[in-house]
Amino acid sequence: MAKDRKNLLPASGISTRSIHAGHDTHQDPHRPLITPIYQTASYAFDEVEGLWNFYGKKSTRLAEYARYGTPTQRALEETLCSLEYAEDCIVMSSGMNAIATAICGLLGQGDHVVSLREGYRGTFKLFDQHLARFGIGISYSDISLEAIKAACHAKTKLIFIEVPTNPYLRLVDIDALVQFARERGIYTLVDATFASPMNFNALKHGADLVTHSLTKFLNGHNDVIAGAVLGSKELIEKARSFRNLFGSNPDPHQCYLISRGIKSFAVRMREHNRSALEIASFLEAQPQIEKVWYPLLASHPDHALAQRLLAGGGGIVSFQVKGKDSSQAAGLAASTHVVEALKIPTIGASLGGVESLIHQPSVMSYADMDADARLKEGIHDNLIRFSVGLEDTADLIADLKQALASL
Ligand SMILES: Cc1ncc(COP(=O)(O)O)c(C=O)c1O
Repeated sequence: MAKDRKNLLPASGISTRSIHAGHDTHQDPHRPLITPIYQTASYAFDEVEGLWNFYGKKSTRLAEYARYGTPTQRALEETLCSLEYAEDCIVMSSGMNAIATAICGLLGQGDHVVSLREGYRGTFKLFDQHLARFGIGISYSDISLEAIKAACHAKTKLIFIEVPTNPYLRLVDIDALVQFARERGIYTLVDATFASPMNFNALKHGADLVTHSLTKFLNGHNDVIAGAVLGSKELIEKARSFRNLFGSNPDPHQCYLISRGIKSFAVRMREHNRSALEIASFLEAQPQIEKVWYPLLASHPDHALAQRLLAGGGGIVSFQVKGKDSSQAAGLAASTHVVEALKIPTIGASLGGVESLIHQPSVMSYADMDADARLKEGIHDNLIRFSVGLEDTADLIADLKQALASL
C-alpha cells in the first residue's frame, strides 16, 4: 500500500517537511523518488470530459498548459506551503517578480502603500518608477510602529516590510503591526527573504502574504533566480491569475533545482545561523570595526525583538569598518580595502548561498547615487554586507582577521 504522509507531515520537523512535503509521485506508474522535470508545453486530454473534470478540479491532474504551471512547479509550491504554514503558494521567475505580482494582484489605481524606508532597493524602484505610473501611491516610513501608523491614511491598502531589513537587519513589532493593519482593513505583505522560513514564519504572526526570493537561502546554491508568494487561497488566487496571464513562472528545470536545494535547506540554515553569529561576535571584538549589525548581538537596536521573533539570526552580517577619518570617502576606502583583501568571499550581488559573498551597498545597489544622497538613505560608505556561506567558520574568521590587519 502507498505510504500516506499527508497527515504526518504538518506535525513533522522542518527537515522532514523540506525533504518530503509536496513530492507525492504515487500517481506515476514508475514511482520516481524525486518529482520529475516535466518538459512539455502542453498536456494531452483524450476526452473532452477530462478537460471538464480538470477545470472543475475533479481530477488529480495538475496541468493543462505550462504557462499555468507544471507538476514540477506544483511540487515546489506545496513544499513551500509546508515550510511557511500557508494555504497556497505561487512561484515566480524572481523574487522581484513575486513582490510585483503580489502587489498587482491586490492593488489598483488610487490605492496607497506604506513601506519601510529600509529594504532591498529593487523593491523601491518598483514602487517609485512603475507602480506610481499606474496610480498606486507610496509613502516610506522609519522603522517604528508609530512611524508606520503615521504614514497610513484612508487610501492605504498595503503595508510592506522586510523581516529583517536589508542591510541593517532591523525588525518591527510584527504582532502589533498586524493588529493595527487588521483594524484598518490594510493588507500586510512581508518579504522574509533574509529570515527564511527557518527563522521566521510571517503568516503565523497574522501577515496576509509572505514573499521570498528563492534565489537566496531556500535554493541556497547561487545558481537559480526565482521567487514565491504565500498566503490564503483567496489572496494567492488573485496573484495567480496575474502570473498565469504574464507567464512569469519559472521553468520546470528551475523548479527542480530549487526543490533539490530545499531538501538540505534546514541543515544549511542551521549552519548559516551558527556561523554568522560566531563571525558577528568575532567582528565586534576587532579594533578596526566601527559597528556590527546582527540581530542576535546584544548591541543590535532590535535585539529584544529579535529574541522574541526570530528562531535564528540568519546568515547575513553587516558591519562598518573604521576609516582614517569619519568621512564617507575614508569609509569607502576602508571598506574597499577589506573586500579586496578578503580571499574566500567573492565580491558579488546576492546572498544566502553556500559560497560566501560580500557586497558594498555604496558601490553596488546604491552606486548610482553620490555619497551624500546615499547617506540620506542611511547607506554609510564604510558598510559591508557579508553573506556567510558554508565554508568552515574558522577559515572565514582567519580570512577576516588578515584582511582587517592589512588596513
Ligand atoms: C530582501 C530581498 N528581497 C527581494 C530580492 C529580489 O530577489 P531576486 O533577485 O530573486 O529577484 C532581493 C534580492 O537581493 C532581496 O535581497
